[in-house]
Amino acid sequence: MSVIIKIMRDIHNEKILILDFGSQYTQLIARRVRECGVYSEIVPFDTEKEIIKENNLKGIILSGGPSSVYIPDAPIVDKKIFEFGVPVLGICYGMQLMAHLFGGCVSKAAKREYGRAELIIDDDSDIFKNITLDSTHRTPNSITVWMSHGDRIEKMPDRFVPIAHTDNSSIASMKSKDSRLFGLQFHPEVVHTPHGIEVFKNFIYNICHCSPTWTMASFIEYSVEDIRKRVGEKRVMCALSGGVDSSVTAVLIHRAIGDRLTCVFVNNGLLRKDEAEKVVSAFRDNFHINLVYVDAEDRFLNKLRGVTDPEEKRRIIGREFIAVFEEESERIGGFDFLAQGTLYPDVIESVSFKGPSATIKTHHNVGGLPADMEFELIEPLRELFKDEVRLLGKELNIPDEILWRQPFPGPGLAIRILGEVTKERLVMIKEADAIILEEIKRVGLYRDVWQSFAVLLPVKTVGVMGDERTYEHVIGLRAVTSKDGMTADWVKLPYDLLGTISNRIINEVKGINRVVYDISSKPPSTIEWE
Ligand code: XMP
Repeated sequence: MSVIIKIMRDIHNEKILILDFGSQYTQLIARRVRECGVYSEIVPFDTEKEIIKENNLKGIILSGGPSSVYIPDAPIVDKKIFEFGVPVLGICYGMQLMAHLFGGCVSKAAKREYGRAELIIDDDSDIFKNITLDSTHRTPNSITVWMSHGDRIEKMPDRFVPIAHTDNSSIASMKSKDSRLFGLQFHPEVVHTPHGIEVFKNFIYNICHCSPTWTMASFIEYSVEDIRKRVGEKRVMCALSGGVDSSVTAVLIHRAIGDRLTCVFVNNGLLRKDEAEKVVSAFRDNFHINLVYVDAEDRFLNKLRGVTDPEEKRRIIGREFIAVFEEESERIGGFDFLAQGTLYPDVIESVSFKGPSATIKTHHNVGGLPADMEFELIEPLRELFKDEVRLLGKELNIPDEILWRQPFPGPGLAIRILGEVTKERLVMIKEADAIILEEIKRVGLYRDVWQSFAVLLPVKTVGVMGDERTYEHVIGLRAVTSKDGMTADWVKLPYDLLGTISNRIINEVKGINRVVYDISSKPPSTIEWE
């Protein structure tokens, strides 16, 4: 009986493999499959067929990509993968490739199709089964989809039949006559295809016959067992920053090995107001995790004295962090493993259409710890996306305050104090920053905004308070929306809110007499000012 339960609970038992042709949406495909409750993995399109064909393979998805199947160096797959017997779903380039490989004809479309389209379903027996139709459309039996393609299938391979069309594409979806290979010209993975998830569910459950084993509850069960097996009676050390990834890593490992985990929290003095205390109380008092708190504020500030160059600040902080961490690990001693909160997007790299790069980033979440530290790495989140990490954290009862914390840079407030970092300036920025966060939270915008924070400018301006002339510092307010920090836009915060923040900072923070709002996007600016 227990053996049966074990098999049922192995979250990797059923896998949908995604072959990546370089689409910017490949990661989204994997996330959608996982949202359906099935494990999915991304591999480069030219991964050896023996690796693709692992026992737990239940289905294959060919991603989109920027190439054209008819150009000489187009990325293609070994046709043998279609003989594995598992269903295959080709999306956009993936569908065109399938058509090309099976003798169809793909060419440049007279009219590019980009954006919203009405997809008229001609066969709803499998991949479009029970899909929610859009009743607002002129044409019955249609759904809204999102298209992004310049090529189209002119001639269908003999083995296939069309199952949906749009005004511009007579073959917007096709299937093989044995209902095992499917192609979609549109992108079911993007939010602009509102019922795309239903398409994935049909593929995963009705066509690949998977069962929903990938849940965060089962992930915990699997990981705990895995960590216990790996660590045995040995001990693990984890650098805790209080951010979501390191927090979830710590709590998960703690659940597996309890007191044999020790977390080290380095207070570099560059954290937000009350942040160090909050992290200590959350982990020591709530989770009862062994936590070594290192008060290194003076040490960091001494090293930063007189430094104004942003990159120099970063270097100093990075070096000092390593030094403190190494000293602590030596002082406490007896650790074999170092835990890190590496995530799946850090591990995979989307392959370019010119060729695969199976390169695995050597990503160091803990501020670039050197490779020669004599630890084995333990990275329990390396299979997860960020949204899954939050779900996992929820399942582990980690408070929302930690799980939804806005990203905070490793060098902390040092890169938000333009010019020299001093104790006096730290007090000013911490107070102003706390007011900003408090007000943003009060109006319920904290989660919608990627980051919102104060910057202390290296200029003084004239003001008047009461009857007195003042000559004091300026706070820059920065609030941006972003998906991943790579691009960002400034938030159109309500004027009332801006007014309240400005009033409160000028009234409550000694040394500040002016607040300005940063209305630059990234690019050409960056999110941080340094
Ligand atoms: P920028 O300013 O480059 O920031 O637009 C993009 C994202 O990265 C964060 N950031 C850093 N994070 N160490 C970090 O750990 C750094 O030196 C650093 N610099 C910027 C920034 O907060 C934003 O989320």
